[in-house]
Amino acid sequence: MNENLAQLYIGIIFFYDIIIYLYGKLYTGNHTATINSQSMEKRSLVSINDLSRDKILSLLEKASKFEENPNRDILAGKVIGSLFFEPSTRTRLSFETAAMRLGARVIGFSDAATSSASKGETLKDTIMMVSNYADLIVMRHRLEGAARYASEISPVPIINAGDGANQHPSQTMLDLYSIQKTQGTLENLHIHLVGDLKYGRTVHSLLHAMRHFNPTFHFISPEELHMPEEYRIFCRKNNISFTETTEFNEEVISSADIIYMTRVQRERFSDLMEYEKVKDCYSLTNAMLAGSKENLRILHPLPRVTEIAYDVDDNPKAYYFRQAQNGLYVREALICDVLGIEI
Ligand code: CP
Repeated sequence: MNENLAQLYIGIIFFYDIIIYLYGKLYTGNHTATINSQSMEKRSLVSINDLSRDKILSLLEKASKFEENPNRDILAGKVIGSLFFEPSTRTRLSFETAAMRLGARVIGFSDAATSSASKGETLKDTIMMVSNYADLIVMRHRLEGAARYASEISPVPIINAGDGANQHPSQTMLDLYSIQKTQGTLENLHIHLVGDLKYGRTVHSLLHAMRHFNPTFHFISPEELHMPEEYRIFCRKNNISFTETTEFNEEVISSADIIYMTRVQRERFSDLMEYEKVKDCYSLTNAMLAGSKENLRILHPLPRVTEIAYDVDDNPKAYYFRQAQNGLYVREALICDVLGIEI
């Protein structure tokens, strides 16, 4: 009897997940249609496509003010809900640090197993409950579309801290901030995206954001982890130049302003044998950077596994730890923006 009940329970949760998944496919399939969507009235940040070029530039400007002075008591009395249904180090801790440095308090969980989701509570009910307590919810979830869904039902703004392989807009904002800071511009850059371009949500968000700035992309991945067709279509529609190759060597690197390395996303593979085949596809070493441009900077959303050798860390062109630090200032700007607090 107990076993039957447990199966029924799992069946209901599975059914609910399918609804969110289909919802996500409906909404994430048409990225440009989500610009200025209904959720913007609540100032949620679900997709990088929610932000215009002017809005992006204005947020970057605000982030630079927070870099000058990260500690300000402008969120006193506010409570931020931090709901991480998937693991995180940088995103969760930098959002929580951002909230605390601005005087807010933080509630939430970093492991869904410690929440009532483990007892079968639906995402809808979790969001409704936390919105009783918090002024803003930062959420990471494994399902594409989960953040969009949450933003539609939540009375308080939602910031998407990553939904499956779909979007990671706050990461993109800190990537843009890092690119602008190191290159002096976002315009006309050669950006090499390397590694897992199939499941890496950060490269998908970055590609969308850069449509405003006339980039040339170079997609470097094994066949199995190619940039999905929808993003290549997006590039063609938006007149974004791109090349594709499976080779990652000194010659390919020589034209790069930015090398954006990515981890092969083990957690997104349904067949771990497939993961084993590609997990060590590329490793950037210091020797490979010998002929690179002076202005080159190496970014990585982190965590890193084997795709950047440790001997790169001391090269002045390695920027990934500073990039993660920039996340604090950018997230301070984002939190204030969705709460409608001017600085
Ligand atoms: N870049 C990033 O999203 O890192 P975490 O998974 O540690 O949050």
